[in-house]
Amino acid sequence: MYQEFYGLAEIPFSISPDPRYMFLTSQHKEALAKCQYIVNQKGGLAIIYGDVGTGKTTIARRLFQLLREDPNQEVAMIVTPDLKTDTAFLRRVMAEFKVQPKRSHAASLAEFQAYATQAFSKDKNLVLLVDEAQQMTPNMLEVIRIFLNFESDTAKFLQIVLLGQNELAAILDKIPAVKSRVTMFGALSSLTREDTEQMIAFRWQAAGGQQHPFTPEALDTLFRLSRGLPREICKLSNESVIRAFVKESKEVTPDMVEAAAKELRLDQIKPNKQKEPAYASKR
Ligand SMILES: Nc1ncnc2c1ncn2[C@@H]1O[C@H](COP(=O)(O)OP(=O)(O)OP(=O)(O)O)[C@@H](O)[C@H]1O
Ligand SMILES: [Mg+2]
Repeated sequence: MYQEFYGLAEIPFSISPDPRYMFLTSQHKEALAKCQYIVNQKGGLAIIYGDVGTGKTTIARRLFQLLREDPNQEVAMIVTPDLKTDTAFLRRVMAEFKVQPKRSHAASLAEFQAYATQAFSKDKNLVLLVDEAQQMTPNMLEVIRIFLNFESDTAKFLQIVLLGQNELAAILDKIPAVKSRVTMFGALSSLTREDTEQMIAFRWQAAGGQQHPFTPEALDTLFRLSRGLPREICKLSNESVIRAFVKESKEVTPDMVEAAAKELRLDQIKPNKQKEPAYASKR
């Protein structure tokens, strides 16, 4: 569409969580590093939670990619645990690791434990990533709790990262047996004005462009109307660039961002007060 006009090879603001377009803000960097630490230390369970569209799936995909490149790790990712029962969940996990389930739930658990124990003895680190984990039922979380009992005196045989919307933290609050086993919590929230600008610049360059076309005032407007939420930033940036392109303008100005936000109905939402990410305060 507008790629040629702005000297781009691709659209910079697609809303699919493509790891190539991931800009490591301090909160994303920290969440990723902590997940890697838990996985490498065989520490058990890490939780990443946050507002809608803040980058959880992007982190999950990057983590999956990084772990898959490492021959000592065997990684499985469940994109949505939209299953009816805990047994279906267990079978899904086993299928991801290519382990044949048994007829009963208990026998399947025993089979998977044997697999995890054997993997550990061969220095293979098993890692399970579950995105959209706020959809997990208490019974599925009980399966997670049992997985965390697959362990030696010093290490877990299966490392687990659950990523989900804020409700995930609330769900865990109600299940102390699982919550007490969480080794690391990480929260994602709105970006700062500076991160918003850097993310736009990064994505523009990742798409093959040079200097992005947003004026500083346009970036102020974009930050305010997107509330610093990465998915809203991408949608609003894309729509704003389309407006500039239609006007054959090499610059994106605040009025274009305002008009784009109207089109996307973002101006209907009250802006959030910019807050310190919950993550930062937990350091
Ligand atoms: N660190 C980042 N750098 C660049 N783009 C990002 C970053 N984080 C998120 N985005 C972009 O924001 C959008 C939403 O990201 P993502 O799908 O990862 O969010 P999410 O937290 O999983 O959302 P949901 O709560 O709806 O599942 C995507 O377009 C993604 O590319
Ligand atoms: Mg997601």
